[in-house]
Amino acid sequence: MIAGGSAGLGLVIARTFLSADYHIVIVGRDPGRLNLAAEQLRSSGGSGVTVLCGDMSERDQADGIAGKIADQLGRLDVLVNCIGASDRGLVEKLTAEQIHRLVQQNVIATLHCSQASLPLLIQSGGTVVNIGSLAGKVTARYLGGYNVAKHALTGLTGQMRMLLAVGHAFPGLGDWLLLKFTSSPDPPSPRKH
Ligand SMILES: NC(=O)c1ccc[n+]([C@@H]2O[C@H](COP(=O)([O-])OP(=O)(O)OC[C@H]3O[C@@H](n4cnc5c(N)ncnc54)[C@H](OP(=O)(O)O)[C@@H]3O)[C@@H](O)[C@H]2O)c1
Repeated sequence: MIAGGSAGLGLVIARTFLSADYHIVIVGRDPGRLNLAAEQLRSSGGSGVTVLCGDMSERDQADGIAGKIADQLGRLDVLVNCIGASDRGLVEKLTAEQIHRLVQQNVIATLHCSQASLPLLIQSGGTVVNIGSLAGKVTARYLGGYNVAKHALTGLTGQMRMLLAVGHAFPGLGDWLLLKFTSSPDPPSPRKH
């Protein structure tokens, strides 16, 4: 499952998993954008594409998506949390509403997708990949509320790694785990179409 798989980096990640023979599920809010992305993915040669629509900043909708994956596909091996939004601006103009919106997109959506998917991931011994940013590791000028939100995501990811590993789910920071994933001698078994 690629949360945020209908555009940008998420779509690239979706294509990569598809070409590695995974059945992929792409998730986003806009059905038109999702269907267009699915068409592009299928035309590049993969048929195992499922489209699920929902706003992952709402916990009940994340639960609904996980429920559909359980019903339709029966298992979940990898969750890629790629929902996020960037920002630009000066600290003196940063508003609470701006931070709230960015935290919803960059942190809460990841929290909801992970919590909703956890039972399936524990069952499969699966993997969570949270897509972070350099803005979650170092601070930079003019990034508006993006530094705040991505640092919060780094904190959440660290907690997930420490607390959930015992349940056989292994969350990590995006770039690091993606590398481990593609070069691992023992990756999770791909689901065939
Ligand atoms: N682009 C970069 O240069 C860059 C650099 C470092 C890190 N990142 C990180 O990579 C991630 C993806 O960035 P991007 O630039 O590729 O983003 P993007 O092009 O804006 O794509 C965001 C994706 O998330 C979906 N989405 C957004 N909010 C959602 C919600 N509440 N519920 C469900 N789906 C939602 C969007 O579809 P809908 O709008 O239809 O919902 C879309 O599929 C972000 O976390 C970003 O911080 C990006």
